Amino acid sequence: MAEIIYIDGARGGAGATTCAVYLALALSALGERTLVVDGDSECAAGLEICGLRGMNVYTLADAEAGACRVKQAVLQHPSSPNMYVLPTLSLKNIAYADNAVAECTKLFDVIICDRIAREACKRAVVVSDPYSHSIAAAQIRGAKLKDGGTENVGLIVNKVNGGLVFDGAVLTPQEFASVVRLPLLGVIPEDLTLPLGKIRPSTARAFDMTASAVLGRSKKTYATVKPYVGVAGYLKRKLRTHV
Ligand SMILES: Nc1ncnc2c1ncn2[C@@H]1O[C@H](COP(=O)(O)OP(=O)(O)O)[C@@H](O)[C@H]1O
Ligand SMILES: [Mg+2]
Repeated sequence: MAEIIYIDGARGGAGATTCAVYLALALSALGERTLVVDGDSECAAGLEICGLRGMNVYTLADAEAGACRVKQAVLQHPSSPNMYVLPTLSLKNIAYADNAVAECTKLFDVIICDRIAREACKRAVVVSDPYSHSIAAAQIRGAKLKDGGTENVGLIVNKVNGGLVFDGAVLTPQEFASVVRLPLLGVIPEDLTLPLGKIRPSTARAFDMTASAVLGRSKKTYATVKPYVGVAGYLKRKLRTHV
């Protein structure tokens, strides 16, 4: 039976979809048969980040209309054999995703639901940026998930700029998690190549560490400050502030 995890964003643009996809890719690389349910029924953002836009024949909307079975709407990632995506493009009755996910539990080890099928999820992860204006939003998301019956709620602090943490301009991810009162599962650095459809090796490493934490194999999180220490780090921080 799959572990079903709901991914939520503290606020729009926090990186919920990005984290859902790259966390799923990291889990699949660890040998977990992983399904991402792309909750974006309007634009298929998850499909886009996976590089699978236009490669699907069906979506969950077709399954709901009786044109195919749920399994037929699932796509296998071409270069990550353990990774699968279920698009929900054009799905009107969002509640149908709960049944669809329940139908898939025997087929996967982990199912990551990007802001969809919450009823089917026993576990959730809130994704937040590390800035103080997101503290209240992350707290509210965590509380709402717990009030909705999801007891196990963790936190990924995304878009962390190590230089700003080093300078003390933003909270460390650990401080952020303790203020928000959610267990810290992962720290993902700011990576300006992500919006371009790429990923830096260090960011991929941060997702690998997060995947291990999600599986309960490790509690280590990515150290964002490391590249900003020393002379090279000083130059990097100055460049970052002035350019
Ligand atoms: N760690 C990161 N560093 C830099 N940009 C990021 C990072 N994570 C996500 N982004 C970018 O932020 C934007 C919003 O991300 P997205 O995953 O769509 O957020 P959400 O699903 O929470 O609305 C996208 O352009 C994405 O590429
Ligand atoms: Mg999204």
